[in-house]
Amino acid sequence: MSSGLRAPSNYSEEPSRHPSLTVNSQEPYNAEPPRSVLLASYVTPVDLFYKRNHGPVPVLDDIERYRVSVCGLVEKPLQLSMADIRKLPKHTVTATLQCAGNRRTAMSKVKPVKGVGWDVSAIGNAIWGGAKLADVLELVGISNFTSVSPLGGKHVEFVSVDMCKEENGGPYKSSIPLIQASNLDAEVILAYEMNGEPLNRDHGFPLRVIVPGVIGARSVKWLSSINIIEHECQGFFTQRDYKMFPPTVNWDNIDWSTRRPQMDFPVQSVICSLEEENKVKPGKIVVHGYAVSGGGRGIERVDVSFDGGETWVEAIRHQKSTEDLYVADDTSSCDKWGWVLFKAEADVSQTTEIITKAVDIAGNVQPENVGVIWNLRGILNTSWHRVRVEVKDPNL
Ligand code: MTE
Repeated sequence: MSSGLRAPSNYSEEPSRHPSLTVNSQEPYNAEPPRSVLLASYVTPVDLFYKRNHGPVPVLDDIERYRVSVCGLVEKPLQLSMADIRKLPKHTVTATLQCAGNRRTAMSKVKPVKGVGWDVSAIGNAIWGGAKLADVLELVGISNFTSVSPLGGKHVEFVSVDMCKEENGGPYKSSIPLIQASNLDAEVILAYEMNGEPLNRDHGFPLRVIVPGVIGARSVKWLSSINIIEHECQGFFTQRDYKMFPPTVNWDNIDWSTRRPQMDFPVQSVICSLEEENKVKPGKIVVHGYAVSGGGRGIERVDVSFDGGETWVEAIRHQKSTEDLYVADDTSSCDKWGWVLFKAEADVSQTTEIITKAVDIAGNVQPENVGVIWNLRGILNTSWHRVRVEVKDPNL
């Protein structure tokens, strides 16, 4: 049965986009906002949120005809309309979505990597509204917190309709383990709203998956079917992409089967109030940025160095309002899956590097150098973020 979603074979029906986005690739459309935008608000505005597509954006002509099928290893497969999805309890979750390729451009300076070049803004924080996937799975007889379904399903595959060249013109798809999909606390949702508005086309209208704390690749947009399967998805984006290889692996000796598909993203922090190269006057510099860790692990600390890593100061962290200090793991005040914005200041009198590194609640810390985590696909660049400031006294 058709989901009502149409996959254009070319780029003539793309949505309009904000002019201040930096376009890293036009077809498919991949774009990110200027880094300063990310600091302006805890919740990233939809039109300025990064957009990561692998093919032309699908079109839905008639929402009444839209159906998502829930099938595979289930006794009674289902076709759900948007009305059916909306009847389920609505759940909102504030979650940071980060592309595994965020900061790839910096990694490619060590040695070339394959992939769209991203600066530091392939990331955004949004309030997603929709139905919990765990509630949808209950409709087909899979209880909450299940690792193996009655018919032997262990993974949940999400299939879209967009035509991707990596899939030889087939749709984008990926999967997550059933235990995560059916875990109410993992807050995996089928989202129809982003920041209180209906999803727009670029972000997956009418329905997408949001898997909090996990690389963006698993949050499949323009959802067409949900398959309960025994083994993880065999598609390109699960088996032959978005895997983290050691620096020794190159395109001649790669064996994709030796690595698992990446899920959680590692701890990350980035300075957004400065560009990579800056000219400043001597005196006080205030630095702002974001920090986030995957798997719902809170940010324990953000260290900022104003002297190239010799000494460090601890940054002030917050989420919703700058008045409320962030306390990792305080469930009454903090968003488990959301980023924290941070601020640190110091006097700078000579040319130096300003650096940030974050520590999450498990004590994981960003690696010092990008070289040690270099990988041929250029994913997960979470090395210390360094920006250069050239200090010049205008009176001299
Ligand atoms: N889903 C579909 N159907 N097609 C895609 O190309 N890209 C994935 C994911 N879901 C993709 C998709 C990747 S790699 C990322 S990082 C996020 O969507 C980006 O979501 P966004 O464009 O809403 O920011």
